[in-house]
Amino acid sequence: MHKVTPWEVKGNIDYDQLMKEFGVSKIDDDLLKRIKKKAGALHHFLRRNIFFGHRDLNFILDEYDKGNTFFLYTGRAPSGHTHLGHLVPWMFTKWLQDKFNVELYFQFPDEEKFLFKNNLTLEDTKKYTYENMLDVIALGFDPKKTHFLVDTVHANLMYPEALKVAKRITFSTVKAAFGLTNESNIGSIFYTSMQAVPAFLPSVIKKKKIPCLIPHAIDQDPHFRVSRDVIPKLGYYKPASIQCRFLPGLAGMDKDGKMSASEESTAIYTIDDAQTVKHKINKYAFSGGQATIEEHRKKGGNPDIDIAYQWLLFFEEDDAKLHKIYADYKSGKLLSGELKAILIEKLNTFLKVHQQKRKAAEKKIEKFMFHL
Ligand code: TRP
Repeated sequence: MHKVTPWEVKGNIDYDQLMKEFGVSKIDDDLLKRIKKKAGALHHFLRRNIFFGHRDLNFILDEYDKGNTFFLYTGRAPSGHTHLGHLVPWMFTKWLQDKFNVELYFQFPDEEKFLFKNNLTLEDTKKYTYENMLDVIALGFDPKKTHFLVDTVHANLMYPEALKVAKRITFSTVKAAFGLTNESNIGSIFYTSMQAVPAFLPSVIKKKKIPCLIPHAIDQDPHFRVSRDVIPKLGYYKPASIQCRFLPGLAGMDKDGKMSASEESTAIYTIDDAQTVKHKINKYAFSGGQATIEEHRKKGGNPDIDIAYQWLLFFEEDDAKLHKIYADYKSGKLLSGELKAILIEKLNTFLKVHQQKRKAAEKKIEKFMFHL
């Protein structure tokens, strides 16, 4: 059993079931071929079904073929430091920006987690907005084509548009889509109208209809399911989306479908040092290995439930390397500790560079802020 809403993800997630629940389409082989033809290659997140679902992606590609290019929209509600799971949709968004040479609007709804969590002040979310921005910039987005929207900073621009959305959504729709109740605070009821805005704001600003593609983790789908009904009524294209599954938490796939930022032992943060990464993986990463070395050599490990292997699916781009790791682990040739060592090395190599770029990003924030 799973539960997936934008504010809560629990249980062992059945993604096929979720697609049915949400009404999302699968990215099938034909669509993969279409993307490959245009992009020249397929990102390993597409090859490995990590981005697995979409709404109206064919529309985006049809328009692109006609020369009517799209823009990208994604976001992050600041509530804490960035962990590796957050990077997954952003890395993919960066790939799309490069391959299709398109603009990106990146929203930081700094009111969202203030409204939905008890323990966060607006000062906290402001601080994390800054911290999270460093991670986004560190991934290498093009500052000329990437625009940060911060809800409380860009309120003068966003609020009038949010009102137009809000007027067309009823309380009962929000209750049904998000599981809110009569006891929910009224800010949380309004919130989805702010998340809808960047999906058409560029069209408002440029005074012409521009197609929008939203890469996001599947839990955000309820927002866009609701806003897709409203945005055409305002005279703009229905936004399309492409959706990914979650990087599982260290504790294992059935413990926690999603890496939880609130539990130290399940997540690795972009600011963790090499020792911390090593310690967390060795201590907490759920192992699909056998109880003793002897038994492991005889029976082999199970990569399908092994978190170190599951994380390599996200972070080892080389298919041949990954296949070999899979086969060696399954046959018992590779031990659980050795598999973890491969992951630790991979992540620490990545994080070392990321942390340097993150430091350099401190001076670049202003270049990314949206200005009219
Ligand atoms: N609600 C998202 C979160 O909790 C933040 C967000 C805003 C977002 N706009 C988005 C995510 C668009 C994906 C796409 O982090």
